[in-house]
Amino acid sequence: MRTINIITFSVLSIAVFSSCIKSRGNNPGLEYAPDMYDSKGYEPYNQRDSNLINPYGMNMREPVKGTIAQGQMDYFYPYPNTNEGYEAAGTGFQMPADLQDAEGRGKYNYEIYCSPCHGLTGGNDGKVMEKVGKPVWPNYQDAYIKTLPVGKIYHTLTYGKNNMGSHASVLSPLDRWKVIRYVKELSGTGTVASDTSLNQSNEVKR
Ligand code: HEC
Repeated sequence: MRTINIITFSVLSIAVFSSCIKSRGNNPGLEYAPDMYDSKGYEPYNQRDSNLINPYGMNMREPVKGTIAQGQMDYFYPYPNTNEGYEAAGTGFQMPADLQDAEGRGKYNYEIYCSPCHGLTGGNDGKVMEKVGKPVWPNYQDAYIKTLPVGKIYHTLTYGKNNMGSHASVLSPLDRWKVIRYVKELSGTGTVASDTSLNQSNEVKR
């Protein structure tokens, strides 16, 4: 009986203490299920160090340069994030002529992403603006925004400018143009898209 007790105790102790053995890295006993951390399934963006062939360890391949998704615009923005790039965009980068639905989609995105700082009508009176520090121009109705080239606004939306962050991750190129068109409308210099049937639509239309 006593021998059995000793054997049972030993087996149990091994079982208990083996869970404390260093499993991986410097987290002994923490990674109970390492496969949950290092996925065995293919991750599209990153497989840590296991995919040594594709850039950034991605399993997904980057689209061929110049690829444009149906109904979308080219993601490639040719101007660098420099003062020279900003100036060059001002003269060289133009809004697509056939842009529609700024009143619907542009307003929709403006109210989500811009109004917390710039206010619903561009008065720079959003709650967040009080925290980040206001621009030198008072509102969108100021001559600065009225005359600001659309290419420069696109550049600012893409890279950010001082206290304003980049919006490239939340607004597709097409949506950036629609928001810019809406900004110009708020400033009193833009024209409202004539096709009102598209208003309020969240679908991407051009
Ligand atoms: C975190 C607050 C914040 C948010 C959010 C924000 N902005 Fe701004 N924005 C600013 C500030 C601050 C400036 C002044 C930057 C400067 O010139 O120093 C600015 C500048 C601008 C300018 C002038 C750009 C230029 O080239 O001088 C435009 C146009 C503009 N914002 C539009 C937008 C639009 C459209 C959105 C939404 C997609 C947006 N902003 C979101 C704070 C914000």
